[in-house]
Amino acid sequence: MSELSQLGDQVRVCQRCDLAKGRTQAVPGDGPDNAEIMMIGEGPGFHEDRQGKPFVGAAGQLLDELLKDIDLSREKIFITNVVKCRPPQNRDPQPDEIEACKPYLDRQIELIKPKIIITISRFAMARWFPDKKIGEIHGKPKKFGDLVVLPMYHPAAALHQGSLKPVLKEDFGKIPQILKDMASIQEEKEQKKPDSPQQLSMF
Ligand code: URA
Ligand code: SF4
Repeated sequence: MSELSQLGDQVRVCQRCDLAKGRTQAVPGDGPDNAEIMMIGEGPGFHEDRQGKPFVGAAGQLLDELLKDIDLSREKIFITNVVKCRPPQNRDPQPDEIEACKPYLDRQIELIKPKIIITISRFAMARWFPDKKIGEIHGKPKKFGDLVVLPMYHPAAALHQGSLKPVLKEDFGKIPQILKDMASIQEEKEQKKPDSPQQLSMF
């Protein structure tokens, strides 16, 4: 069994915070061990808690639609959340809960080593952009060493506020080009061309 699956098993029996009390099942996350793309949401909702899988409810359906539009297979992405157990009535996760659950997310990132992390919740975004507002930085990738982090609106936000849906669609529409740019940067690095730019302007 992979270390990532073992970590999932630890999450399923975790009692590190009070969210353990209200859950049906913990939701460690889903996707390949070596995914190049990772998506981080907020926390499981009703359906996720029942099924033990991330983004299987209404927000997940919209996520599927957004991914289909750009021909990106969900099976290639590791999808998880900042907290792995459902907050009661889908309330915001509290700082102490996020902190208690952080070692799992840290280890998932360490083990998967994604090239790009797409944050789809403000709590995930806050980890890399603590002082920024989503309205200012959505759809704009930023490099952190070898990692690129791309902040996005949460699909559930577009379900509540219809005007955000075209914004989300436009932002998701940028993903293929970002992946292409990242691949060409990687290629240049491997070829070690002395005078080629190591960084594209969009980062
Ligand atoms: N919203 C999230 O943030 N995560 C899920 O897994 C489902 C809905
Ligand atoms: Fe453990 Fe995270 Fe669930 Fe809290 S939310 S009980 S820390 S797995």
